[in-house]
Amino acid sequence: MRELKIFAIVAAFTLILYWGVEPFAHSQMHKHVEGNNLVYNGKVDMEECAADKKESKKAFWDDVQKIADLKGDPVAGEGTYAMCMGCHMEGAVNMGGVTPPSLEHAGAIYDKNFLIALIKDPAIATNVDHTYPNGTMLHPMGSISTMVTQPQDIANVVAYLQTKKAGEVTPKEAFTEACGRCHANRYGGLTQLGEIPKTKSNIKTGKDLDRMKYDQKVAEEQASLAEYLGKLPPDLSIIYRARSEHFLHTFIEDPQSQLPGTAMPRTGLNEEGMEKVLAYLEETGDSSKQQREAVGPYVLIFFIVFTFLALLWKKYQWRDVH
Ligand code: HEC
Ligand code: HEC
Repeated sequence: MRELKIFAIVAAFTLILYWGVEPFAHSQMHKHVEGNNLVYNGKVDMEECAADKKESKKAFWDDVQKIADLKGDPVAGEGTYAMCMGCHMEGAVNMGGVTPPSLEHAGAIYDKNFLIALIKDPAIATNVDHTYPNGTMLHPMGSISTMVTQPQDIANVVAYLQTKKAGEVTPKEAFTEACGRCHANRYGGLTQLGEIPKTKSNIKTGKDLDRMKYDQKVAEEQASLAEYLGKLPPDLSIIYRARSEHFLHTFIEDPQSQLPGTAMPRTGLNEEGMEKVLAYLEETGDSSKQQREAVGPYVLIFFIVFTFLALLWKKYQWRDVH
């Protein structure tokens, strides 16, 4: 009887903790954020910005929508794209703190309105304009807004991206292009400079000079990123296990919504881009998930069979007592 009472008390406390305290603490520490369904129309920006900025934000996104309504000509856009390649070419080098990413699948992973906004003003598009109080020309891609100024030219180059740079994209490519310039993913074999090269130690000295040179280059790139962003962005190898998918989805859609003032830009992913990036984070962060899920049913079958056998055994042992 006493044991039962103690058990009841323990059970009651456990349930209170489980259903009452934990969710309460969780809701206090992480406010619930509704996403904007990967629609980039300035709605969240207007909610988040200072009162005196709301009008200009609205005007900016109205202009973006007008350009989105134009019919872009991908052939004419190819000429403008050459200007983008001035910074975004293969083997691009760090400029202003960060290395411009490859645009090979930009048309597949980024939202159209986001791309238009990005060319008009990269700091506003990525929702970090509050960190450029002296004007967004200081953003490392800021000069684009003086190079491509005509609405039709913007519509054309975005049309070019959406037809020529929109092929099939793998999760790894999506991650590398959208996140990899800032975030390493060691489990995926990636640093901020891309794939870690295969190198060999010198047989006589036992030292891998090429690897040491590469590590130095990575350290220099990271120092420059830390300078540009105020801190080194974390390695994302196991972030999928540390954070819920809802957090990741809404954070990546608009980092300011959960970390006001953060230097992490909004990357403007569309649905496909988000799906691929999350798939990559899941792959590196929880690589045994598939195995685990495959084993699950067998474990259940084992328990059912075992319970059945145990019952039979019990019956057998007690058969003479009754
Ligand atoms: C221009 C650099 C930059 C890019 C590009 C970037 N991030 Fe970040 N990210 C940051 C910085 C800086 C932080 C640290 C934020 C802070 O603590 O204020 C960060 C933090 C994060 C965090 C940690 C949030 C937390 O508190 O747990 C996640 C998750 C994340 N980024 C995911 C991504 C993903 C996914 C992408 C690509 C879609 C991406 N980031 C692209 C700079 C970047
Ligand atoms: C002056 C150099 C420069 C030019 C010209 C330039 N970019 Fe960029 N671009 C950058 C840099 C630097 C970044 C990374 C900025 C950051 O992470 O803060 C970037 C980032 C991007 C991104 C990634 C944004 C994201 O959210 O992850 C896209 C897409 C992009 N540029 C497209 C273009 C297009 C399209 C053009 C031509 C119309 C262009 N860029 C011209 C320097 C440039």
